[in-house]
Amino acid sequence: AHQWRGVIAEYADRLPAHLHEKVVTLGEGGTPLVPAPALSQRTGADVFVKVEGMNPTGSFKDRGMTAAISAAAGRGAKAVVCASTGNTSASAAAYATRAGMTCAVLVPDGKIAMGKLSQAIAHGARLLQVDGNFDDCLVAARKLAEVSPIELVNSVNPDRIQGQKTAAFEIVDALGDAPDIHCLPVGNAGNITAYWKGFREYAGLDDGEPLPAVATRTPRMWGFQAAGAAPLVKGHPVDQPETIATAIRIGNPASWEQATDARDASGGVIEAVTDEQILAAHRILSAEVGVFVEPASAAGVAGLLARAEQGLVPVGARVVVTVTGHGLKDPQWALRTPDGNEVTPTRVSADVMSIADALGLD
Ligand code: F0G
Repeated sequence: AHQWRGVIAEYADRLPAHLHEKVVTLGEGGTPLVPAPALSQRTGADVFVKVEGMNPTGSFKDRGMTAAISAAAGRGAKAVVCASTGNTSASAAAYATRAGMTCAVLVPDGKIAMGKLSQAIAHGARLLQVDGNFDDCLVAARKLAEVSPIELVNSVNPDRIQGQKTAAFEIVDALGDAPDIHCLPVGNAGNITAYWKGFREYAGLDDGEPLPAVATRTPRMWGFQAAGAAPLVKGHPVDQPETIATAIRIGNPASWEQATDARDASGGVIEAVTDEQILAAHRILSAEVGVFVEPASAAGVAGLLARAEQGLVPVGARVVVTVTGHGLKDPQWALRTPDGNEVTPTRVSADVMSIADALGLD
């Protein structure tokens, strides 16, 4: 019987040797690439969604975390720390527990989704709610890692990028070549950095160890930030980032230059989408594609739809949109209508006549 072994084992020859000494895995990666006819119809392109919510802790972060925690374990580390808008902390907590390490987590006060908070606590993290935003948390986490033996597992840790680049490999493996366009949300900008690295490596364009090229080309990278937290679009840090997409509520991305390099070298764009556009895309993903995501994850779809409306999506282009995290992380958004009213289930008595009646059947 075949079982997916996690990204370090599956892509062993394309990952650095030090990750293999003590592999800590929960079987991450191998996520579905799902055709999205509802999005193809709307855009005239051939659209697929890469469903990263199917990872063990429900987000793409697990790809990078298996690498970061394996490397830390190989060095005999006892403790790790991260700043997080929620998903990194859930992932770090799970992999650290698996490795028998202590995990300290710094999250912005009151601005992380309940599902993510629950995960970090359930996995035994030392969770601190910091009086500040994500950017403040990251500055503090970096300093803590400098002055103590605690290892930093944010995406400024290069092992995180190594693990996360495997998502690009999976897409090329599934399609037979790179897509024309790759869309994704951008927050701290680790993921766009990792995808661009992965696509370049698979096309034989990276400076690393020479390995056979799998793809003949690289995609245009289309990144999308929330309008209230769009430093890369504005060209300067944003002091008070605001968006309902709390995962990407970030004003000063750590991988700023790598993100703009991915944009420019690929012939891509980084643009802003409003919270309304994000929620509209969230609804289309749920109600028409059949994929439930958290709001931040809908930003890539929102951006693709906005560009299609402007006539900027070539007809027939092959487009992959990475949807980064599971809808169950932050489910409240499904329970609201577009005009903000609460959705509540219809109550009926437990007899078939009233049920048929309520459903409008004869
Ligand atoms: N989507 C989701 C669901 C995320 O959790 C994040 C980042 C992003 C997109 C953006 O990815 O930062 O690599 O550009 N979440 C981080 C966290 C910041 O702490 O969980 P990025």
